[in-house]
Amino acid sequence: MLKETFMKISNIFLKNKTIEAQLDRGKGSAPQYHSDHFKKENTIALDPAYIFDAPGGQTISFKDIEELVPRIRKADAMLRKNEGDILDNGVPMTGWQDLPEEITAAHLKEIRQTTAGLSREIDAFVSIGIGGSYLGIEATFQALTHSYFNQLSRDDRGGAPEVYFLGQNMDPDYFRDTLDMLDGKRVGINVISKSGTTTETAIAFRIVLKLLEETRGKDASRFVIATTDSSRGALRALSDKKGFKTFPIPDNIGGRYSVLTDVGLVGLAMANIDIGEFTAGFRRMREITTTDDVMANPALLHAAVRHAAWLKGKKIEAVAVNSRALYSVARWMEQLFPESEGHEGRGMWVSPTMYSEKLHANGQMIQDGERNMLETFLLLNEHDNRIEIPQMEGDPDGLNFLSNKGIDMNFVNRKVVEGPAYAHYKGGVPNMTIEIPRRNAFNLGQLYYMMERSAAISGYLLGHNPFIQPGVEAYKKAMFALIGKPGYEAKAKEMADEIKKLHKVIISSS
Ligand code: PA5
Repeated sequence: MLKETFMKISNIFLKNKTIEAQLDRGKGSAPQYHSDHFKKENTIALDPAYIFDAPGGQTISFKDIEELVPRIRKADAMLRKNEGDILDNGVPMTGWQDLPEEITAAHLKEIRQTTAGLSREIDAFVSIGIGGSYLGIEATFQALTHSYFNQLSRDDRGGAPEVYFLGQNMDPDYFRDTLDMLDGKRVGINVISKSGTTTETAIAFRIVLKLLEETRGKDASRFVIATTDSSRGALRALSDKKGFKTFPIPDNIGGRYSVLTDVGLVGLAMANIDIGEFTAGFRRMREITTTDDVMANPALLHAAVRHAAWLKGKKIEAVAVNSRALYSVARWMEQLFPESEGHEGRGMWVSPTMYSEKLHANGQMIQDGERNMLETFLLLNEHDNRIEIPQMEGDPDGLNFLSNKGIDMNFVNRKVVEGPAYAHYKGGVPNMTIEIPRRNAFNLGQLYYMMERSAAISGYLLGHNPFIQPGVEAYKKAMFALIGKPGYEAKAKEMADEIKKLHKVIISSS
């Protein structure tokens, strides 16, 4: 009979450092993020060297940036003074600027107490939301936790429950698959919606709440957190009626700028992520970005480079990462920039991509396709783990030289950014690199604040309000009409008449 043999990773590798970080967070042993040493070791760097004078037409020169400086400074000054086109329903939407300084230790403590209390009573936590009420939480969670977090033991998760996301799409199969993961588990929910009326969120919440009520009966409300407007909206009214624990979303902060509000903090605390360290990262970047010296202010330089690129016909920005953990951060940027910039026929499309994977796919297009692209690398400098590349007898693939030279997977992974950065530049794609020292909450906080400032400045440069998203309303109206929402009858008729006139050619397989 064949003897069963089980692979023993732990005999060969040290304990996974991502798990160790989770264990440390579970014990509450936070890094000393206030020290100067920590701050120095965790500095985000922006390198625009491959932006300038890329071969081919429409190149960006250093002079282009210099010429933008007065406009950038003016936009930054206006933003600081809450001036310009920044209103949403009469409210200036710039509250995120000073939020890092306004968050109090007492507030963070209240969040930690609530999440710790709920965490003890549940096995799985479901964060329900879409857009700005979803992406920042998932991005930060994935950036800082093990790739297979929910499959680890609770101990290895640092005591945190499993974490799931729903409401971000209307795919019934994905929804059902996620529900299967909740089967037989004690579930807690955080439903997040600033407006309180977002259809996708509301549908997902209805279903999960019903399941919770069937399991817990009258006690169900104790397992629901609602993060919503403090006084308005359907979710606020329902929360008051059902007695959910609520966290407020400030009036003056819109969805995609809200990851540091309770929108992000509650879910992150539930996953044991250090929300104090996260806030400190935002504070640090806020300090760094107070200067109006464009070459010393990464948010301003980032905005300047992107705007110069846009003026030179670069309409697509590939945001490439060398870390699976950071891929969702690129997805967060995919929302922040296009939803803020894509107005009135302007704006740059952001395409998240992961190398090396995509170098074997859209890498061909970047190297050789239409020269309408800018590329931004989010380069993780130090991964949690180090993987050596072993020798192989006979050297069949010719790669033994790697281990002979002491080259590990980490070294190769860095070159899958440095190599394309050079090759793409030579192929006519200007690119910049944002170096992120390591995976921690402080660095993500810094990066997010830098990007929020850059996106806001970009709105001023493009000449429109970066804090509203009127275009999103168009799809909602069309969808409401198609699903027969009361009040949309006239729109439904108008659409049906227009659709009838379209020239339709349907080729069917029968
Ligand atoms: O950035 C935004 O404002 C949007 O992406 C919203 O966050 C998203 O539409 C969800 O809105 P709400 O929180 O009102 O459900």
